[in-house]
Amino acid sequence: MEKELNKLQKDALNDISVADSINILQDIEVKYIGRKGLINEILKGLKDLPDQEKKIIGPLSNKVKQEFISALEKKKNHLEAVEIEKQLKDEIFDITVPGNARPIGTIHPLSQIQFECENIFNQMGFAVMDGPEIESEYYNFEGLNIPADHPARDMQDTFFLSDKHEEKHGGLVLRTQTSPVQIRTMEKYGAPLRVIAPGRTFRNEATDASHEHTFNQIEGLMIDKNISLANLKGVMMEFLTRLFRKEVKVRFRPGYFPFVEPGLELDFSCLLCNGKGCSACKRTGWIEFMGCGMVHPNVLKAGGVNSNKYQGWAFGFGLERLAMMRYGIEDIRHFNSGDLRFLKQFKL
Ligand code: PHE
Repeated sequence: MEKELNKLQKDALNDISVADSINILQDIEVKYIGRKGLINEILKGLKDLPDQEKKIIGPLSNKVKQEFISALEKKKNHLEAVEIEKQLKDEIFDITVPGNARPIGTIHPLSQIQFECENIFNQMGFAVMDGPEIESEYYNFEGLNIPADHPARDMQDTFFLSDKHEEKHGGLVLRTQTSPVQIRTMEKYGAPLRVIAPGRTFRNEATDASHEHTFNQIEGLMIDKNISLANLKGVMMEFLTRLFRKEVKVRFRPGYFPFVEPGLELDFSCLLCNGKGCSACKRTGWIEFMGCGMVHPNVLKAGGVNSNKYQGWAFGFGLERLAMMRYGIEDIRHFNSGDLRFLKQFKL
């Protein structure tokens, strides 16, 4: 019996040593220690042996089984390691190959300019306000000193959304300018004020290379005691010089807007010809930039600001023209075209 067991052990260890795959190893495991495995059969038969033999064969067969199991484990680990090694060699995985880049959008050129303007005005102490794009006729016109039958309304025809009799503040319109935010801000915060209000505006325009029905403005409003046009000139010179990173001169011309008195247009010196005159500035040396003026007392009143105590100025300029000049864009209609060939040129 003892001899048989020793032979069995030798065979088993030999089987293990020549096995060259995990599958074969599994068969060997079944063969020796499976339910009807050779070693297990001996252990099962122990109970029928005489006591004398049991004492020797019992521990011996257990020892054989343990040695078999540990040899089997060792070989299994070895074969697994070999297998992994082989896989690593076969499957070439180059960790230096660049991944698949996801397409990332770009920031719209008008947003880029808007953010830049906001930053500069922020640095000069202006807060940034917001107002609705769908506005009441009251805030867009009456409150700004433009009564219903005033000829100034012809300059700003827009899209009317509902009949004026239905609404508390007259009908609803798509705002033609960011100026309504002047009144909303005064109503909300009172004086003094130093704010800008960027936003989308709309007009009923026949569109062409320089006219769009949807465009963007930045409104400015400064109200305090002792505010004059000198403040406005200084602020705009500083703003444009920072924006263009180049010294810019400004000049006022008379202009008409019902919500300012006096009303002005502000031009800045042409950056392409340094004021000498070129095609960009129509040989004048100046670029027309924005409307502005001292806030009309009626507008201060509409905003609930005491016009005997406070005065201030307001301005409004378009972002499109600024962006077109900066980037050399020849047609305003590109901005809302959604054309990726256009938009992708303005990476940030
Ligand atoms: N709201 C005017 C426009 O759209 C511009 C402006 C703003 C003029 C503020 C004067 C004061 O043309």
